[in-house]
Amino acid sequence: MDLKILHGDLIDAPTLDALRVREGWYLICEDGFIKAVCPTLPEEYRACGVEELGRAVVIPAFSDLHIHVSQYAQRGIGMDKLLSDWLSNYTFPQEARFEHAEYAAAMYERALQSLLRHGSFHAVMFTTIHKAACDWLFERCRALGMQALVGKVNMDAAAPDYLREDTAVSLRETEAFVAEHTGDPLVRPILTPRFAPTSTQALMAGLGKIAQQYEVGVQTHLVESVWEAQQAKKCFPDCACDTEIYERYGLLGHGPAIFAHVIFPEERDLALLRQYGATAVHCPEATTNIIAGIMPVRRLLQREGVALALGSDIGSSSSPAIYRQIAWAVQLSKQRSFYYEGGDQTLAFPEAFHLATAAGGRVFDRVGVLEPGYRFNALVLDGLEDAEFPLGAAARLERFCYCGDDRNITARYLNGKALDAFC
Ligand code: GUN
Ligand code: FE
Repeated sequence: MDLKILHGDLIDAPTLDALRVREGWYLICEDGFIKAVCPTLPEEYRACGVEELGRAVVIPAFSDLHIHVSQYAQRGIGMDKLLSDWLSNYTFPQEARFEHAEYAAAMYERALQSLLRHGSFHAVMFTTIHKAACDWLFERCRALGMQALVGKVNMDAAAPDYLREDTAVSLRETEAFVAEHTGDPLVRPILTPRFAPTSTQALMAGLGKIAQQYEVGVQTHLVESVWEAQQAKKCFPDCACDTEIYERYGLLGHGPAIFAHVIFPEERDLALLRQYGATAVHCPEATTNIIAGIMPVRRLLQREGVALALGSDIGSSSSPAIYRQIAWAVQLSKQRSFYYEGGDQTLAFPEAFHLATAAGGRVFDRVGVLEPGYRFNALVLDGLEDAEFPLGAAARLERFCYCGDDRNITARYLNGKALDAFC
């Protein structure tokens, strides 16, 4: 049996309203899972080795619910553009490179190493239209022990020739991708029409059939900008709102439904998101960069059943560091609240931390909190206080999210094993 005992300050956020801080507790892990969390070491473990963590903080590893792993190469570039121009001038030419297997493998490897380095062990991934590269990514996530939903992107409209798929080919390759990769509960395929403006009705109808036949979920970008919402209505005139497109074509109710951005939802969007238990993903930095919109987080949180989580949305943001998005989420909630809503609707730090851990973790297998029965997927954070000015554990965690970086993550445990090699 593989036994590990850590003694230190444990923090997680099983509910939205508060951090759970357990200073100087013991975390006992057996064979990759948390066995017990307790204030004193039980008798039967007294003879076992204990890792003393001193002033370090132990937290659950993060979940990134919206990342374009293919866009890792273009982070920080074209950030003064808005969505449509950014896609045409930066993103589409970059994504075209994934046709080449060697390039794709090298870039995906960099992106995955960066995710791990920054403590996101579970992610919902956008790729490109290229199936072979997606196959490679899928197997690499499995080999690394990560948890992921991986989607081969579909685009059969409003895209340049070099990236626009033939509808039948797109559907055939997607079905093959799904069929070839079913069965692993930890790395799963997910249908990924890029967004409504790059999809024909025939594509959505075909994807709906695949969803039903293989019981597979869907991810896309939803009401992310005024332009996108208008285009969606133009392309799908018989659907009353963006979300209704995915319902009408049978894409909802067959697995996780993950919608990035949700900045301009109508009442009908929210009703459908609630009805299907969909997750809306807040990507605060990315939307500031290329959309100039802020998700109405408080409004969504108040709708019971509209689950929320955080995403980095690389490459519209600067880094896969989801802890930075926690800080961004709090900062932007102040802007939205005071500039647009005229009242205090701000997000508290524990709420944002909850979104990046326990809430995002719900689409994966037993991750996101430090509780018996959950996987021991966790991070150790250190170097977060000045000797002259010691801080409580919660303050050290908040400082990490605002001021820290991957050098403050001094240990990473994935399925109970310490990760130590990074490029
Ligand atoms: N909408 C359609 N494609 C994209 C993309 O690649 N990134 C973002 N943020 N929004 C999109
Ligand atoms: Fe995105």
